[in-house]
Amino acid sequence: MQVIDSIKKMKDEIKKAKKGNLSIGFVPTMGYLHEGHISLIKRAKLENDLVVTSIFVNPTQFAPNEDFEKYPRDEKRDLKKCEENGSDIVFLPQKEEMYPEDFYTFVEVEKLGDRLCGKSRPTHFRGVTTVLTKFFNIIQPDRAYFGQKDAQQLVIVKKMVEDLNMDVEIIGCPIVREKNGLAISSRNTYLSAEEREDALLLYKSLVLAKNLIEKGETNIHKIKEQMENIILSGKNNTIDYIEFVDLKTLDPVSKIEDKVLIAIAVKVGNTRLIDNMIVSI
Ligand code: PAJ
Repeated sequence: MQVIDSIKKMKDEIKKAKKGNLSIGFVPTMGYLHEGHISLIKRAKLENDLVVTSIFVNPTQFAPNEDFEKYPRDEKRDLKKCEENGSDIVFLPQKEEMYPEDFYTFVEVEKLGDRLCGKSRPTHFRGVTTVLTKFFNIIQPDRAYFGQKDAQQLVIVKKMVEDLNMDVEIIGCPIVREKNGLAISSRNTYLSAEEREDALLLYKSLVLAKNLIEKGETNIHKIKEQMENIILSGKNNTIDYIEFVDLKTLDPVSKIEDKVLIAIAVKVGNTRLIDNMIVSI
């Protein structure tokens, strides 16, 4: 496995791979790798000749009051996991090279980035789409792999690729959960033992919603109320949002008619967690 930290070296490797007609699978991450990330690397390995994993805690997707400095990092452990799971190249760019002082260009997907998490994190998604555009230009992947865990991110990236005619296939992969249902996240490391218990209520509320819908309940208001009760039974929990939205447009739906994305964001103590489920009648 090669570890590359300069953009020029990364581009040179990609040129070589393209000359050899190798297909390139790309897994962008912010590191502190867990089973969720690893599922993406494994899937990329199955479908491509060369797998590039990036590890970069992207400053432009964090607001000044957020956890950029505190975000967990463990480069040595991450490199080991990449190697063990099939990455051929790990790209570890430097913040200063990715964003020099005279960096002025941003990519923004309007509308889709303003709702759900965009309401409480108004500059987040433009940071995500900007860094991904840079990565797609540097790495020129045939396929890029994203988790359904960040459902809004996946929808936005797909739209950006469509709108800007980018030559990359975006592949969404299922949410990896702990046995108890908790969606695995790098931010789970912030939780105390008691907060971990309260965090389980996110998944519980989604399962409850799924069961109600499958039994024929179509009234979103009623379902939301029950989800709220479950989540707020955890004394460390405050709800940012519980939304029922269209899978592609992220527009709120008023009645459940077909497939719906149920997306939630909850602050457990000081840690903001997200989870979601796609449910069909
Ligand atoms: P990060 O939070 O490190 O996540 C990297 C990828 O792993 C994302 O596509 C995310 O959806 C996926 N992922 C995280 N937890 C998962 C889980 N439990 N199951 C399945 N997939 C999971 O998302 C980002 O980084 C950044 O925004 C990034 C795309 C790298 C841009 O900076």
